[in-house]
Amino acid sequence: MNSLLEQIYTVGRVEDTEGNLIDPFPTATPLAIGNFLRETIQKYNLKNTLEIGMAYGLSSLFICQAHQDAGSGYHTAIDPKQTEKWKSIGLLNIKRANLENKLRFFEDRSDKILPQLFIQGEKIDFAFIDGNHLFDYTLVDFFYIDHLLSIGGYIAFDDIWMPSVRKVVSFVLRNRSYELIPVKIETKISTQLGIITKRFLQNPFEINDLKVKLIPNNVCLVKKISDDKRPWDFHRSF
Ligand SMILES: C[S@@+](CC[C@H](N)C(=O)[O-])C[C@H]1O[C@@H](n2cnc3c(N)ncnc32)[C@H](O)[C@@H]1O
Repeated sequence: MNSLLEQIYTVGRVEDTEGNLIDPFPTATPLAIGNFLRETIQKYNLKNTLEIGMAYGLSSLFICQAHQDAGSGYHTAIDPKQTEKWKSIGLLNIKRANLENKLRFFEDRSDKILPQLFIQGEKIDFAFIDGNHLFDYTLVDFFYIDHLLSIGGYIAFDDIWMPSVRKVVSFVLRNRSYELIPVKIETKISTQLGIITKRFLQNPFEINDLKVKLIPNNVCLVKKISDDKRPWDFHRSF
C-alpha cells in the first residue's frame, strides 16, 4: 500500500485542493476490497485494467499501485462526475501518489465511453464495475466490458448487497460463459451471516441468484471462459 492510501485509511479522510478534509466513506472502497483488487491483479498478473466509477480514486489508487509495483500494466478509469461531484480529488490523489503514468481517465458516462473503446478494438484483462448500480446500467457495463475482455480475463462486481447488481451477476453466470471465482476477504463470521441474511430478506423468493446471495462479502469475481456462443434463442431465467 502506498503512503497516501495508508494515510487515507488511517485518518478516514481525503483532501481537496484547498486542504479541506472530506470523509470519502461509504462511497469509497473499504480497505478490504482495495486489498482484494490489489491481490487479484497480482495473483493473476493482470496488465490492462479498467474501472467504472472512480469517485475519490481509492480503488484507482490500489489498482495503479499494483501496476507500479509490478513494473508494468495500465489502468483506465471512467467517471462522468469527477469534477462536478468529486472535486477532482480522485485525479488529484493519483497525482499525489505519483501514479499519473499508470492512468488514463475519461470524464464521461460508461455507456458512452465503452462502445468507443470497443470500436477502437481495445482489449483488457480485468474490469471493476462500480459505477451506476441500476440493473440496466450495470448490465450495459457488463455487455461492453465482455466485448473488451480477453478470454481468461476477470470482472469484479462491487456492491452485490444490491439486488440490481446481483441480478446482473446472476444473468452472467446463468447465460454467459463465465465462472464464479471464490474470493477471500477477511470478515467476521457474524458479519458474513448478517450480510447473507439481509439478502434473503430483500427478496426471499428469488432463487436464481442463490450462488451470488451466498457470497459472504460485498464483491464478487467472475472469469470469462469463452466468447459468446449461445444459439439465437437461448435463454435461462436469472
Ligand atoms: C461507489 S462510487 C465509486 C467508488 C470508487 N470505485 C472508490 O473506490 O472509491 C460510484 C461512482 O460511479 C460514478 N458513476 C455514476 N454513474 C456513472 C456512469 N454512468 N458511468 C461511469 N461512472 C458513473 C459516480 O460518479 C461515482 O464516482
